[in-house]
Amino acid sequence: MRLDAAIAWGSRALSESSDSAKLDAELLLAELLQCSRAQLIAHAERFLTGAELAHYQHFIARRKQGEPLAYLTGHKEFWSLDLRVTPATLIPRPETELLVERTLALFPNDERRRSIADLGTGSGAVALALSQERPAWEVYATDQSTAALAVAQQNAVHLGLERVRFFQGSWCAALPALLFDAIVSNPPYLSESEWQGCQKELHFEPVSALVSGEEGLHDLSELVHGAKKYLRPGAYLLLEHGWEQGPALRKLLREEAYQEVCSYHDLAGRERVTSGRWAI
Ligand SMILES: C[S@@+](CC[C@H](N)C(=O)[O-])C[C@H]1O[C@@H](n2cnc3c(N)ncnc32)[C@H](O)[C@@H]1O
Repeated sequence: MRLDAAIAWGSRALSESSDSAKLDAELLLAELLQCSRAQLIAHAERFLTGAELAHYQHFIARRKQGEPLAYLTGHKEFWSLDLRVTPATLIPRPETELLVERTLALFPNDERRRSIADLGTGSGAVALALSQERPAWEVYATDQSTAALAVAQQNAVHLGLERVRFFQGSWCAALPALLFDAIVSNPPYLSESEWQGCQKELHFEPVSALVSGEEGLHDLSELVHGAKKYLRPGAYLLLEHGWEQGPALRKLLREEAYQEVCSYHDLAGRERVTSGRWAI
């Protein structure tokens, strides 16, 4: 089969299961042939070998079952970093870039050696983006999942960001006994019923990365409480959350005596990150 025919066949096969069927087909074929989408078009008349076609058909079948594209290609871009992802890691989302942006905005043009922690780092997305932008910072990244942490460490090596330090364990308990300038996290925040009702693709991602008790607030509340012992006076806690959880999270932060509590909107105009300042 020629490349152009393969793309047309793949698009048709995915048309009912994906909103971006042609793009998915092109990206899967480009991954398989280790080339760019532009090269696929430029070499449209090239024929796939039997092995390549079989591999491509297998990719398309898996995608048709709802398996996320990033798990098939094995990588995902976040903050212009090409990150390896596996089914042990959440696929980093564009809205999480807001957590990076807000953290950087707290310390503009900063060349000081600050201690920053990213709790529940998954593929390492947030910690690696922060380390890339602020080379002087000492960035600590933790996760409860050893499998996710192994992927994050590989990403650090691959991106030349080995100065990020990784620790396994539950939330703040994983951290060394230090006081931090900022603790950031994108924890699980879906309620069990939200997760049950959500699209098939999400069910390929680790449930431990997504679901947080009946209301979705269990881990956010644990972080708000636990982080206080690890924050310097005047330091910040920044948390990503569900778009309807802003009011509940602001209340939790104020009840735990955080100050300057405020929420930030993502590109869709939804409250997505809330921060508070400890012991000013
Ligand atoms: C929503 S994912 C975020 C991953 C990554 N920070 C990102 O934004 O792409 C939540 C992460 O928290 C981790 N996690 C869940 N419960 C945890 C706990 N009790 N302690 C530490 N990490 C936990 C999961 O393994 C997962 O990697």
